[in-house]
Amino acid sequence: MQTDQQENFEQVLARRLARRDFLKGAASAASMLVLNEAIGQSTATQAQTGAVPRPLTFSPIGLSVEDRVVAPPGYLARVLVRWGDPIFPGAPAFDINNQSAAAQERQFGYNSDFVFFLEFPRNPFDASVSRTEMGLLWNNHEYTNPELMFPGYNASNPTREQVDIELAAHGGTVVQIERRGRRFPFGGQEWAVNVYSRYNRRITGETLIQITGPAAGHEMLKTSYDQTGTRVRGMLNNCGGGVTPWNTIVSAEENFNQYFANLGALPNSDPRKAMHTRYGLPTGASERKWENYYTRFDVSKEPNEPFRFGYPVEIDPFNPNTPPKKRTALGRLKHEAATFVVAPAQRVVCYTGDDERFDYMYKFVTEGRFNPLPGASNGDLLDKGTLYVAKFNDDGTGVWLPLVAGQGALATWTQAEICINTRLAADAVGPTRMDRPEDIETNRVNGKVYCVFTNNTQRGTTGRPATDKANPRANNRHGHIIELTEKNDDPASTEFTWEIFMLCGNPSVAADGAFFAGFDPSRVSPISSPDNITFDRQGNLWIATDGQIGTFRMNDGVYVVPTAGPERGFLRQLLSGVPGGEVASLALGADDRYLFVSIQHPGEGSTLANPTSSFPDGAAPRPAIVVVENAGGSRVMGA
Ligand code: FEO
Ligand code: CA
Ligand code: CA
Repeated sequence: MQTDQQENFEQVLARRLARRDFLKGAASAASMLVLNEAIGQSTATQAQTGAVPRPLTFSPIGLSVEDRVVAPPGYLARVLVRWGDPIFPGAPAFDINNQSAAAQERQFGYNSDFVFFLEFPRNPFDASVSRTEMGLLWNNHEYTNPELMFPGYNASNPTREQVDIELAAHGGTVVQIERRGRRFPFGGQEWAVNVYSRYNRRITGETLIQITGPAAGHEMLKTSYDQTGTRVRGMLNNCGGGVTPWNTIVSAEENFNQYFANLGALPNSDPRKAMHTRYGLPTGASERKWENYYTRFDVSKEPNEPFRFGYPVEIDPFNPNTPPKKRTALGRLKHEAATFVVAPAQRVVCYTGDDERFDYMYKFVTEGRFNPLPGASNGDLLDKGTLYVAKFNDDGTGVWLPLVAGQGALATWTQAEICINTRLAADAVGPTRMDRPEDIETNRVNGKVYCVFTNNTQRGTTGRPATDKANPRANNRHGHIIELTEKNDDPASTEFTWEIFMLCGNPSVAADGAFFAGFDPSRVSPISSPDNITFDRQGNLWIATDGQIGTFRMNDGVYVVPTAGPERGFLRQLLSGVPGGEVASLALGADDRYLFVSIQHPGEGSTLANPTSSFPDGAAPRPAIVVVENAGGSRVMGA
């Protein structure tokens, strides 16, 4: 995924900056052709080398309980940016005892999740430079842990200022990063934030966001604040995400239900009550109690506000003044990922999952075609298309069931209603109830789609769905990964085949029933609760986990596993996170030489008075982005 996005990005940014920063007045159609030919050549090389992947050469680490990010010998793992770091000139330095919402709006947000690095293009006339080592970093700020943010926090009665700081700590950040600074003994330099970049931007729980697509303007999206149903303040619980072929970020809202209080006060006769119940809104007070100060979070007073959350949000990192857009055509659910691939005939496909026990896996296929030509506008491609939900058959086949108004079980639905109550629409067409769909991504080397199911301890319990071939373990504590092949290798196909790639667990514990694509389990690392994934240019699968503290009583980590060749299934642990924290997201950048990881909620489960982690500074725990590199300068996987 990374590879093509990076190359598309280079093309797009080269176009945008052609007459300015890099190519000066020399840019011409001929010079762009040179750049594109160079890119095409490197793509062919990757595809060839991907067929026979080079072995991984790093020394795997073991599970850890240490309060530091552990990497193999010869690797560097440095903090790049952390919660509260200033990202604009003159923004206040972080001071945990002197926080304000105004300061937080100008600082890096909390609980880093989806991370992506978009490297600026190199100068095509300078053959000595293969990488610019400069670009934009995107990061989601999924949620807040107020008990770890505010000294003396009282969960039953937060102050208005604390609530406002939390709203400002949600959302996302664009920040320009560069590799620069003092030389290290190993010859490397350090990545750092450029606070002066014109691209730096914070999106928060209060930022004005447009609502687009079939649901825009629908009655159910109108509130006292917005009687048009087309604009909303803020995005919340942005977990996973992806990058479009036209190099915008899509950041997906996940557990939005937790911010809305008092569903129990809506009368049973109000049809919205059943709709909100399907999405798990609290019947009483919310956990953070924002409703104490803002009625939009109180469903008894503003019953439509929750219909305005739970969407993928598109953000153009190169145009800091354009509003983000909630793309309702992709459905309203607890989106984990939103990952993109271009299908034959230039249709764009977005895979996404609904991270809830027994919920579903989806994909969206655009009606319009992606136009890769310079100057083309692909701005509203995500507003029109077909949303599908997956049905896995026990014989290893599967179908994508369309969620289209007027068809079959949805004969009486409008498309707007399908996009707002997507879970209920999907219920009507009979998809497969999965073990919590997390990340879903395409491996560009073999064209297959990898679908991560993090765990589901309710599978097979009384009154709950039994096992099936795609969710084969009762009490699925450790999660699994499915390898899906679209018919004719066409991501827009409505049929697929699938097989289990990995059943996670401790390979030395027989009861776990772990399986690693047939590879000798005695040689692999133990893994539990796979969550987010990416691929390197060899087609190796990289996995970050969320939940090993609950299963192994050990910290979460990062793993690498080949998907082809004699080492297919040979899983090895590369990194360990810190106590209480998940490794929430990972992204390779700059020719796979750097791995950016999100360390989210360090110390979760404790409070500031006695935190279980003091990552990263030996003081109050702060979520952060860490950059990992091989000190010898080779690619992170060592190949
Ligand atoms: Fe925010 Fe599904 O993890
Ligand atoms: Ca996740
Ligand atoms: Ca998760």
